[in-house]
Amino acid sequence: MPPDGRDPHIGPVVVAEDQLRSRVTELGKQITADYGGRTPLLVGVLKGAFMFMSDLARAIELPVEFDFMAVSSYGSSTKTSGVVRIVKDLDLDLTGRDVILVEDIVDSGLTLSYLRKNLKARKPASLEVCALLVREGMQRKDPGLKYVGFRIPPEFVIGYGLDVAEQYRNLPYVCVYSGPQDGHTGT
Ligand code: IMP
Ligand code: MG
Repeated sequence: MPPDGRDPHIGPVVVAEDQLRSRVTELGKQITADYGGRTPLLVGVLKGAFMFMSDLARAIELPVEFDFMAVSSYGSSTKTSGVVRIVKDLDLDLTGRDVILVEDIVDSGLTLSYLRKNLKARKPASLEVCALLVREGMQRKDPGLKYVGFRIPPEFVIGYGLDVAEQYRNLPYVCVYSGPQDGHTGT
């Protein structure tokens, strides 16, 4: 710890609290307009998306339902291995539902492309993706994102749900992680 008591691994802010608040409000408005008369089912990818999903849901002026799934990518570094495994599956049936998959961050896009295929097979009426963050220039193919909060530069980030080894999820902003790059759990 430096003399000011600040954690030296908490790097520069990438998305500030007020930017998060106003962008999440906009996304909520957009979803409200797009899904008028329907009851979208928000599917959150644990754990990273929990804070974003909770704020987003309150910005949507429609009845919504919630479900959650947890996935894990094999290997536990700051790089995704590409092999995705469902650790906790959904409770609800997606048949005929208007599903919005809520993700914290799209990096390579591998987690997302796996999830999209998996959820599509459950025959929802519609399936769209809402990602808080997209890391610029990292996706191998177009991940087809309907709703995106922010496009960010290629640095590992923490806060607002995002972790390194389960730490820092409760920071109210998104910032660069400037500590050792080996403890990430990929959730
Ligand atoms: P992808 O499969 O490469 O797109 O990786 C996506 C997943 O990796 C996200 O849902 C996060 O759980 C995790 N992840 C990727 N980048 C970061 C980051 O900068 N901070 C925290 N988690 C991340
Ligand atoms: Mg995630």
